[in-house]
Amino acid sequence: MTSRKPIRKAVFPVAGLGTRFLPATKAIPKEMLPIVDRPLIQYAVDEAREAGIEQMIFVTGRGKSAIEDHFDIAYELEVTMTQRGKDLSVLGPTRLMPGNCAYVRQQEPLGLGHAIWCARDIIGDEPFAILLPDELMHGRPGCLAQMVEAYDQVGGNLVSVLEVPREDVSSYGVIAPGAEVSASLTEVTGLVEKPAAADAPSNKIISGRYILQSEVMRTLEDQEKGAGGEIQLTDAMARMIGTQPFHAVTFAGRRFDCGSKAGFVEATLALALEREDLGAEVRAMAERELGRST
Ligand code: UTP
Repeated sequence: MTSRKPIRKAVFPVAGLGTRFLPATKAIPKEMLPIVDRPLIQYAVDEAREAGIEQMIFVTGRGKSAIEDHFDIAYELEVTMTQRGKDLSVLGPTRLMPGNCAYVRQQEPLGLGHAIWCARDIIGDEPFAILLPDELMHGRPGCLAQMVEAYDQVGGNLVSVLEVPREDVSSYGVIAPGAEVSASLTEVTGLVEKPAAADAPSNKIISGRYILQSEVMRTLEDQEKGAGGEIQLTDAMARMIGTQPFHAVTFAGRRFDCGSKAGFVEATLALALEREDLGAEVRAMAERELGRST
């Protein structure tokens, strides 16, 4: 019987080392790097809040305390800004409901699956969302809100997917699509991690948003007990296909891979160009730069 408990909890795995961004990420978590003026983690938390998530669970590691500070009250800053008559509303989204955020430590970065498993006791027996903050999902409504709408229809487990050129699939998890429920919602019959282009079951890659039933934690637990190596979330999800409904939502919006330098720059440019307060200035700058480089 499909569980239709509401999705109230979201896990944000933020314990990775961020080696692709060194030296920037030596002392600053990758998730605190800003796109224009909001850190990556703030985009993900805002997306979760918009989708109705009540409890934010961060899986952190050593050197990640800036994330906890970001979602706390900066008392001195607020007092000083108030004394100077400055508007505090810009800090509003950084406030989480007291008691509704939790931090658990992943002592060693043993992979995404292991990071999610570290949140098992806080998740309990509820379905939950996962948002990878280094994938910036840009659209209205947000990606997780689109997925929650689909969840209300089909329940079970969902991943968000994007279509990419077939030659690019080998860096991602790829779905084997089954029956189409609607233009943007497809049944999933299989999941393959990083297949060769020729063997890939489709060109639909899993992007960094998931809604999963709590049973996935037991599967991750079995992997934990098994032979060493990285604990893969895709493998754990694949084992749930056939035992529970599993669907993919094609996200109507753009995904920026901010874990890569080029994706990070692309997101910065795209979001700056859209801004009312910056767009015209940034466009003029970009055109000047392009003129110079040709
Ligand atoms: P990535 O695969 O991008 O790894 O993780 P990374 O360590 O952050 O970055 P690089 O590859 O060294 O540059 C995707 C997400 O999963 C989290 C990361 O923090 C990131 O948000 N993660 C990854 C963990 O929480 N724990 C892990 O063991 C691995």
